[in-house]
Amino acid sequence: MTAAETRTSTTATHASAPTPAVHVAGLDRVFTSKQGSVTALSGVDLDVAPGEFVSLIGPSGCGKSTLLRLIGDLDQATSGTLEVFGKRARQARLDQDYGIAFQQAGLLPWRTVAKNIELPLALHKVGKADREARVRELVELIGLGDFAGSYPDQLSGGMQQRVAIARALAERPRLLLMDEPFGALDEMTRERMQNELVRISAETGAAVVFVTHSIPEAVFLSDRVVVMSPRPGRIVDVVDVRLPGTGRDDALREDQAFFDAVAAVREALHGAPPPAARGVENR
Ligand SMILES: Nc1ncnc2c1ncn2[C@@H]1O[C@H](COP(=O)(O)OP(=O)(O)OP(=O)(O)O)[C@@H](O)[C@H]1O
Ligand SMILES: [Mg+2]
Repeated sequence: MTAAETRTSTTATHASAPTPAVHVAGLDRVFTSKQGSVTALSGVDLDVAPGEFVSLIGPSGCGKSTLLRLIGDLDQATSGTLEVFGKRARQARLDQDYGIAFQQAGLLPWRTVAKNIELPLALHKVGKADREARVRELVELIGLGDFAGSYPDQLSGGMQQRVAIARALAERPRLLLMDEPFGALDEMTRERMQNELVRISAETGAAVVFVTHSIPEAVFLSDRVVVMSPRPGRIVDVVDVRLPGTGRDDALREDQAFFDAVAAVREALHGAPPPAARGVENR
């Protein structure tokens, strides 16, 4: 069988390479209803290495959330291959290989901030003292040290989202799936959370798949930025934004290499601007 032979030889070729955190090949997702069918994703190929930070960017409705939901086993692909650490998405979910922070905070309203963050740790029988120490660390990290005993409906939307992020980080997962987690935050908090996320992903070695509408945010955070096209969602470009000789800190936000990378992603998204509009960002 040609397909089987191909598969065998591919496996042999990559035998020594580390298993990717995420492996997606020829992935399609078609939503079918009485009104007709919508192709949300078509022929998507993407590998995310362990510890790599990859952002997905593209116009509204291009399938970013759909792709993240497939990786997180919250939806099933119509066709194609999808593996998380070499396993089916379902198995990776059962193994708690990833943490999720999505657009909606999804907190339990009857539990306090501390109890929401603690939930995954309690479910996995982490000892009380360790749980409490980790929760203390996380509430400080998200700037809600004074709100540990508050309930979600006593918090603003942005504060709720910060709690959801802390909960996703609680178990230091090796893959984080994040869907516009900072979209509801004010600019200052957002930049602080970005800095923290850089630190956390470096410290934990977690791979991150991060959906955002913000080009500077994608560039600041990522090793690679995946640019998607309007429906049917396809990957049109992958921009390598690893910036040699720079750290991912506040100084980077004012670095020429950063502006250049932002311009490169913008061009990939919108096509190259007319010469008059290019100015100093021209590469
Ligand atoms: N459960 C569903 N049933 C039917 N269609 C869906 C469903 N979920 C998503 N879609 C469709 O799939 C397409 C992609 O949606 P998706 O939510 O992935 O986009 P997105 O890139 O995350 O957009 P945004 O940036 O606005 O969040 C859209 O056309 C949407 O209407
Ligand atoms: Mg979305």
